[in-house]
Amino acid sequence: MNDYVMDIFSIINKTVLVTGASKGIGEAISLGCQAAGANIVCLARSPRPNSPKLANSYIQCDIEDSLIYEEIIKDVIKKFGSIDSLINVAAISLPPNQENEHERFSKTLNVNLNAVFKCCDITSRFMSFGGSILNISSIGGIQGFPNNPGYVASKGGLRMLTKALAIDLKEKGIRVNCLMPGYIKTDMTKASYDNLRTRSRRLDRMIIKRWGKPEDLVGAAIFFVSNASSYITGTDLIIDGGWTAKGL
Ligand SMILES: NC(=O)c1ccc[n+]([C@@H]2O[C@H](COP(=O)([O-])OP(=O)(O)OC[C@H]3O[C@@H](n4cnc5c(N)ncnc54)[C@H](OP(=O)(O)O)[C@@H]3O)[C@@H](O)[C@H]2O)c1
Repeated sequence: MNDYVMDIFSIINKTVLVTGASKGIGEAISLGCQAAGANIVCLARSPRPNSPKLANSYIQCDIEDSLIYEEIIKDVIKKFGSIDSLINVAAISLPPNQENEHERFSKTLNVNLNAVFKCCDITSRFMSFGGSILNISSIGGIQGFPNNPGYVASKGGLRMLTKALAIDLKEKGIRVNCLMPGYIKTDMTKASYDNLRTRSRRLDRMIIKRWGKPEDLVGAAIFFVSNASSYITGTDLIIDGGWTAKGL
């Protein structure tokens, strides 16, 4: 590969902050960015990340706590001098709550949409010109799914928040995009994966005949952090093995 191509895809020495990095997709993206030479900062609520490789880059943080989040951002600036990219992976998918479905809906919106907006807003004040924000939405942000209206609404909202912020942050030179994963095998989808019937029903609609792995998101995440995507903003990239493309 020649120097020009190597250069546009490089994220060496870029400072990349990943929320929801203790496990699953956030862990895979953090490890991928670390391997590609970025300075990574990993956040989640657990005291420690699952991967020991992320231990030195990990800070315990609930993204619902904006004051703590802002303090962390200021510390990151002190340590690295700038933030080039924010990757919003953190989200929840709560089980049904027969007693109080309203509470489930509100909690989901608070973490998956309100807190993510605040992370974007706070971080963008400190980001360098030419920075990139990448939100992890879901195919639930473009199609309806049963039994979890808060999750679907939050992911649809996040997809549109991405487009709104792409406009609002253009003056700061910040691009905002989102990834829309399909069925990826993580703790979040463990119940449907462990149930053979739901696992194979989801598989039936995939063109690429396997459930996704968290690593399937890594290449796209690096692309959106890198200068190779410098003319792309306000867009969403579906990574679902063809699930949403398939009719029959
Ligand atoms: N798996 C899929 O099939 C799929 C499909 C479409 C979209 N997605 C999206 O992809 C992203 C990652 O999902 P995943 O499957 O990797 O789920 P996961 O394994 O449950 O991971 C979720 C991550 O978010 C963190 N988190 C949750 N609430 C948080 C909070 N308030 N503050 C900080 N961190 C928080 C969790 O860590 P702690 O518990 O340590 O805080 C964990 O690191 C989510 O946005 C999800 O909606 C997943």
